[in-house]
Amino acid sequence: MTVVISIGGSVLVKDFDYERIGKYAEVIKQIAAHDNVFVVTGGGNVARDYISVARKLGANEVSCDFIGIEVTRLNASILIAALGSTAYPEVPTNYREAENASSFPVVVMGGVAPGQTTDAVSAVLAEYVHAKKLLIATSVDGVYTADPKRNPQAKKLPRLTPGELVDIVMKIGIKAGSNSPIDALAAKIIERCGIHTIIFNGSNPENILEAIKGAHNGTEINSQKT
Ligand code: UTP
Repeated sequence: MTVVISIGGSVLVKDFDYERIGKYAEVIKQIAAHDNVFVVTGGGNVARDYISVARKLGANEVSCDFIGIEVTRLNASILIAALGSTAYPEVPTNYREAENASSFPVVVMGGVAPGQTTDAVSAVLAEYVHAKKLLIATSVDGVYTADPKRNPQAKKLPRLTPGELVDIVMKIGIKAGSNSPIDALAAKIIERCGIHTIIFNGSNPENILEAIKGAHNGTEINSQKT
């Protein structure tokens, strides 16, 4: 089967620890032993730092996005280095290039275009390559009824339909400074293609292995909510 794994920069390059990045690579290799794997890496704090400096220097938001994209690609490059010959050696800059590289067990890419985040990239890629599953390994535990940082009453939702995901993300996302678990475009793409998606805490690389087997403490998005 084909899987797309989105790994947030905040978990992949946390503390910029090489052993940590190596562990993600090991886990991806294990999955690639039986599945075709596409990975999308986020930018993390490094992207945020670069964007904040660029903004202070007067760069507009599109320019800031381009800088963010460069950082996501830099993170993709470091993961490719850790994966060695298992991975396509370049960072595809678009979806077609990624699919064309799929004779390699693993293809790793970052962002593609301004105005979105790598959540949306992973959802579009999953639709494009007909992935069976989309795993979103992030720094939050899943999708909550409201932003848990603002509302202590917020409850984690173990299962959602794609339509329910869109409703929640829209509700959380419109408040400035709020922390939506995934971006709105990603939620809409998941709704459009109905891909089986799991959003979970990926701070521990092993959680990716567990999630692929269906064992996770995050949120599962499935058209047939059971
Ligand atoms: P991320 O996907 O890491 O965004 O891209 P994020 O939501 O800040 O990351 P996490 O999930 O919390 O770790 C970093 C930045 O790169 C730009 C955006 O500015 C984004 O905020 N970007 C990324 C794009 O403009 N387009 C893309 O396709 C991807």
